[in-house]
Amino acid sequence: MNKEKVIVTSALPYANGPIHLGHLSGAYLPADIYVRYKRLNGDDILYICGSDEHGVPITITADKEKITPKDVIDRFHNINRESFEKFGMSFDIYSRTSLPEHHETAKEFFLKYYNQGLLKEKKSLQFFDESKKMFLPDRYVEGTCPKCGNESARSDECENCGALYEQTELINPVSKISGNRPILKETTHWYFPLNEFQERLEKYVGDMNEKFGWKETVLQYCKSWFKEGLTDRAYTRDLDWGVKVPLDGAEGKVFYVWFEAVLGYISATKELSAKIGNPDLWKNYWQDSSTKYIAFIGKDNIVFHTIIFPAMLMAWNDASEEKYILPQNVPANEFLNFEGKKFSKSRNWGIDAIDFLKEFPADPLRYTLAANLPENRDTDFYWKEFQARNNNELADILGNFINRTFTFVHKHFDGIVPNQNTLSERDSEMLKLVESYPSRIAEYFERYKIKDGVAEIMNLARAGNKYFNDSEPWKTIKSNRDECATTLNISLQTIFTLTELLSPVI
Ligand code: MF3
Ligand code: ZN
Repeated sequence: MNKEKVIVTSALPYANGPIHLGHLSGAYLPADIYVRYKRLNGDDILYICGSDEHGVPITITADKEKITPKDVIDRFHNINRESFEKFGMSFDIYSRTSLPEHHETAKEFFLKYYNQGLLKEKKSLQFFDESKKMFLPDRYVEGTCPKCGNESARSDECENCGALYEQTELINPVSKISGNRPILKETTHWYFPLNEFQERLEKYVGDMNEKFGWKETVLQYCKSWFKEGLTDRAYTRDLDWGVKVPLDGAEGKVFYVWFEAVLGYISATKELSAKIGNPDLWKNYWQDSSTKYIAFIGKDNIVFHTIIFPAMLMAWNDASEEKYILPQNVPANEFLNFEGKKFSKSRNWGIDAIDFLKEFPADPLRYTLAANLPENRDTDFYWKEFQARNNNELADILGNFINRTFTFVHKHFDGIVPNQNTLSERDSEMLKLVESYPSRIAEYFERYKIKDGVAEIMNLARAGNKYFNDSEPWKTIKSNRDECATTLNISLQTIFTLTELLSPVI
């Protein structure tokens, strides 16, 4: 196989709370296994992640706790970085979007669009809290959904029925910071004309799917967005916290978080390049058409990675000699639930990665999550299953096979690998199986079928145990030492292959 140059990203988690097991199994563990496998394969990989440190939820947390947004992001950036470290994530960099480097990159993109005349300036009515003298974007307002009557709907979307509407349509709006009814006040914003990119985006998604086989769930999301028709999207918000809009007269305005967070992948790569003393390295990846870019995310992020980010990159490429690559695949996962119910901070349901990793080492967790990834449908974490995967699979199948083989070799062959002698049919078959494994597992991993790949690896350990049992080395050690040596030799080869194949996982 030709060696590939690959950028892999995992969604930048909000520095607004600790990551939990659901996050790990959605966008992080599968990416880390893929990356470690690719490195093992000799491919040239950059694995990029970091904290997403802007957006309204962070300012709401800060208001609530009477601390600054900076306090909030510092706390959770550190907690999450530590969680990932303990979990064994192998990012080449874990950056953060509050860094000046990122702000510069975000402004550069905005100005490229602005100077090209791409962005539309529009006046609109937005909620305004008169007692606090501030506009109330996104989740700062709650009210009753105009479609289904849900009383805790957000200002422009209802989580209950999925409706999207204008702020002005929300019934009985209430400001979340003062509890007062907000007024509507005129404000100016810039809009990204997503609709102008629809045709090219449809072609892009279609072509990528044809060549690289996108997941059905991801395609379905894209199709429904295209069917509804893409519309102008506000690029800016009236807020203090975020990347400031670099225009005269735009005081008090920042970019909408998604329009800069996705660029965090690029700015993090710039930071990595500077750190290793090769400041232009990032261009070698992001602006080289031979690079393949794979974006690992959870399903709630699909539209941003298959539509908005690609449109932003297309718009840049239209106006520049230096052209960015687009995601080649976006293997989005479904969600992991916890003991049959959704993870929920407000309902206090679930377990944070940091707490889990205080009690247990990373490997049994990595293995359990990998064996049960929500690749095609939502799955659950159950404590019982964690126990069973550890005891029945890692210990009884894998650990047992390795232990009995090593013990035997130490006891009867002084711990030295015994020679292979005449092969029986069983021996040849086992060898053939072992030799077929690396390419078989590679095929799974190349197609982002991590869960199936991991299950197959454990099957090799099962086959190893069966081979050992059927060969009865405890008998042949007395009746035919050469035959016994062959059994042990082949068992050791099986173990060698197993450890190599499992090394991206545990
Ligand atoms: N912070 C977002 C979330 O947790 C993900 C951002 S991905 C990025 O859902 F590409 F925008 F950074
Ligand atoms: Zn509703």
